[in-house]
Amino acid sequence: MSSQAGSSQQVAGAARVLVLGGGGREHALVWSLAREAGVEAVIVAPGSDAIGEEPKVRCVPGVIATDPAAVLALATADDVDLVVVGPEAPLAAGVVDVLEEAGVPTFGPIRSAARIEWSKAFCREVAAAAGVRMARGEAFWALEPALAFARDLAAAPGSRGAVVKADGLMAGKGVTVCDDFARAETALRALFAGAPAAAEAEAARLAGRPPVVVVEERLVGAEASLIALCDDHGALALPPARDHKRLLDDDRGPNTGGMGAYSPVPDLPESLCATLVDMIHVPILAELTRRGAPFRGALYAGLMLTPEGPVLIECNARFGDPEVQALLPRLAVPLGPLLLGAALGDLAGAAAELGLVGRMLPTTGDAAVAIVLAAANYPETPRKGDPIGGLAEAARAGATVFHAGTVRGADGQYRTNGGRVLSVVGLGSTLAAARANAEKAADKVTWEGMQRRHDIAARLPAAADAKAAAASPAPISTAGWEVGKPA
Ligand code: AMP
Ligand code: GLY
Repeated sequence: MSSQAGSSQQVAGAARVLVLGGGGREHALVWSLAREAGVEAVIVAPGSDAIGEEPKVRCVPGVIATDPAAVLALATADDVDLVVVGPEAPLAAGVVDVLEEAGVPTFGPIRSAARIEWSKAFCREVAAAAGVRMARGEAFWALEPALAFARDLAAAPGSRGAVVKADGLMAGKGVTVCDDFARAETALRALFAGAPAAAEAEAARLAGRPPVVVVEERLVGAEASLIALCDDHGALALPPARDHKRLLDDDRGPNTGGMGAYSPVPDLPESLCATLVDMIHVPILAELTRRGAPFRGALYAGLMLTPEGPVLIECNARFGDPEVQALLPRLAVPLGPLLLGAALGDLAGAAAELGLVGRMLPTTGDAAVAIVLAAANYPETPRKGDPIGGLAEAARAGATVFHAGTVRGADGQYRTNGGRVLSVVGLGSTLAAARANAEKAADKVTWEGMQRRHDIAARLPAAADAKAAAASPAPISTAGWEVGKPA
């Protein structure tokens, strides 16, 4: 942490930026940064063929983003002003810690702060200490007490079941939402298979080792993602977005990394978002800083809009994918100076230089809809190598196409090379218009076995539902940091 600059440091633009990652989220980040006047060069490790087609961009496929020494060597050799970390794996690998030790400004949290993403128990502990409301739940090291707690949750009056969450990096596969106790029992027994016996579990708990699971009450409601650029104390939020996690229309089929997103979110007005940032992001940042794990990066709050108000159900330590593909084209402010400001611990200074006030980043006024096109057999082992048709036609239809899992052959032909292959983003003055543009462009793209949803932003909740969302009984704290004012 020795290199972290004080808040008095002057924030200048980052002319040379190194972005880590090579998926759809990183394509959107690179697309955005490369279009900013202050950015001269974007280096991407490993990047992708499609990312390499953006202006000002050079990909370095030989550098593995989770290798701290290789990333530091690249950042140093290319004399970058800022490193932006896309996925969670480099955070967990301690890449940011190594870069910060070496004095390289980095947008992305150090490992001890990023843990809020992969340890569900740590997230709950931090939220509780910060006074942030989450679903009722507890962490468990042993099977029997976990079963007893799940049984009680499922039997409570009005219960909708229980949710079983594995603690640890599970690549999005650690959560089982259970309608009843029988389902929760199956999930718990599977997670505890091979876990230590009760006596050892107690020793693990006493030694402060991570639990095996978190069990929570099952909440119901629409979900939304509220992602904020953060430094140690301050937060500046992107507009809210809504992801669609199930593979098939009408939220059927298996869970995926996300099959589409839209923004704005009619049932989560931006005025309420500003309050939520004060209620959720800011206290969590303060608590992490208090614990010696200051967070500089994108703090993603996964919310459930319950009849009693919005409840935090998860934190991620990075931008959402595909949320950010829908969000970045809506921003009316350059990202580079803000990411650098956050990396230097002076987000407020960067925001002030841009003339920003309040908790929310300004938008162009356009709505955005991102439709994910996925490979055959996703989310199981996706089929690779299918030739992709219609990319030029989709672009001509006015959409922006971000590549998540493609490779370009020597003949210039793009082929599928991952589960989620493309995000097709349409803009419009309303969500309906943005959806029509996204659908029209997505219809042009074809390959054998392509899977996609046709209902992203199709049935929008009424804005009146915001009343329920606004009825949060949680205490609102506006104390502390405000954009444009010293902490
Ligand atoms: P997480 O990784 O914690 O976000 O969980 C993945 C998904 O599980 C979320 O997007 C929700 O759909 C669902 N989920 C998580 N926690 C709960 C909860 N307490 N009640 C209902 N659904 C939940
Ligand atoms: N779209 C959900 C996530 O990025 O975790």
